[in-house]
Amino acid sequence: MENKKFLGNLAIILIFITVLLSIIPVIFYLIPESEKKELNVFTDRNGNPILFDQIKEGEHLLGVSKDGPTILIKKENKIYAFSAVCTHLGCIVKWLPEKEEFFCPCHAGRFDSEGKVIAGPPPAPLKRYKVEIDKEGKIILSYNEGDQK
Ligand code: FES
Repeated sequence: MENKKFLGNLAIILIFITVLLSIIPVIFYLIPESEKKELNVFTDRNGNPILFDQIKEGEHLLGVSKDGPTILIKKENKIYAFSAVCTHLGCIVKWLPEKEEFFCPCHAGRFDSEGKVIAGPPPAPLKRYKVEIDKEGKIILSYNEGDQK
């Protein structure tokens, strides 16, 4: 009798887990695309979105995205965004506008304006993000296809 009760409870638990696992993708699918993207909006350190129009031509900004410290440059009315984390040992890179390159102060790693390594020990380019501007002017960052997330 105890065995029957145990098996009945086990069956109920398994059915519950199966139903739960099958509805999670449906719930994720139903979340509007805009809400998913909001997770990766470029913000200042206090979490306030930085709008496209707030950045002047030629300006660069260090902010935050879902990925962590993020550096953004505006050239020819376009935004280019990169992870600000050096691929060597994780220091935060700086943008040198006069040289148009990123510089890592820890071990003098240098990256060109596309994020490619041009000098020093970094083993890989800076992670570059895809940039979109939403209707409100928020800067939305997402991964480029094939990039590590
Ligand atoms: Fe950037 Fe070493 S951490 S060059």
